[in-house]
Amino acid sequence: MSRSRLEFLGSLAGGLAHEIKNPLSTLKLTLQLLEEDMRKDDSALARRSLRKIEVLLREVSHMDEIVQNFLHFARGHDLKLVQTDLRELIMELLEFLGAEAKARNIELRFDYLGRLDNLVLDAGLLRQALLNLLKNALDAIDPTKGGEVIVRAFVRGDVAGIEVIDTGCGIAPANHERMFRPYFTTKKGGTGMGLPMVRRIVEEHGGQITFESEEGKGTRFLILLPVDPGKHDALQAMVAVDNRPGDQA
Ligand SMILES: Nc1ncnc2c1ncn2[C@@H]1O[C@H](COP(=O)(O)OP(=O)(O)O)[C@@H](O)[C@H]1O
Ligand SMILES: [Mg+2]
Repeated sequence: MSRSRLEFLGSLAGGLAHEIKNPLSTLKLTLQLLEEDMRKDDSALARRSLRKIEVLLREVSHMDEIVQNFLHFARGHDLKLVQTDLRELIMELLEFLGAEAKARNIELRFDYLGRLDNLVLDAGLLRQALLNLLKNALDAIDPTKGGEVIVRAFVRGDVAGIEVIDTGCGIAPANHERMFRPYFTTKKGGTGMGLPMVRRIVEEHGGQITFESEEGKGTRFLILLPVDPGKHDALQAMVAVDNRPGDQA
């Protein structure tokens, strides 16, 4: 397909998603009001209706999530670049996930190396990206067996690296190629938009993301980011970097 045709289809799909967004939020709001009304009535009919309304609300929320993801993904983000302490950002995320990890018998660990307090990035977006990777890592571990999720961060010259490692189920080789494709998911109720979003955010920062995985053993994602995407030598630094941070940490 030609590039202009692709762009045309892209903007058509974007317009469609945007048009769906408003009626969808009206639908959601109205269902919530209806739900409130039904709760006030304790007849058998009202109780049955309430259960149906809950199903509708769940499905509408799922649609809403799909549309939101699509719009963010299709349009990209305007980065708000600010000096950020990556160590702090990661510690906050791990704290946020602490209770959930514990409930699933998962130990969270954080190792870091070098000065992480002067990265220039969009903290909200990077947090979203790391949260997606961490949630996938937690999901990969069977809670009856438990396991470990390790985050490692380092800065080397003009490049920052973040690894998210889990001792989970790993990824079948046949799926490696599909991992970053929109809507690819192996989870019940999954959106398949997590990794495409992560990649999008990393690339918007001028960085790159790779992974390696062994079935039954676990998975390691590696994000490399220029310490300051505004510096024009940042890209060269990215190309020059050694892709095996394990050797230095
Ligand atoms: N750490 C991981 N370990 C094993 N499989 C993973 C991991 N991260 C992602 N995957 C696989 O990639 C798929 C897509 O992930 P993602 O885009 O985040 O969507 P979702 O989490 O909604 O399924 C997952 O369904 C899972 O099969
Ligand atoms: Mg996910």
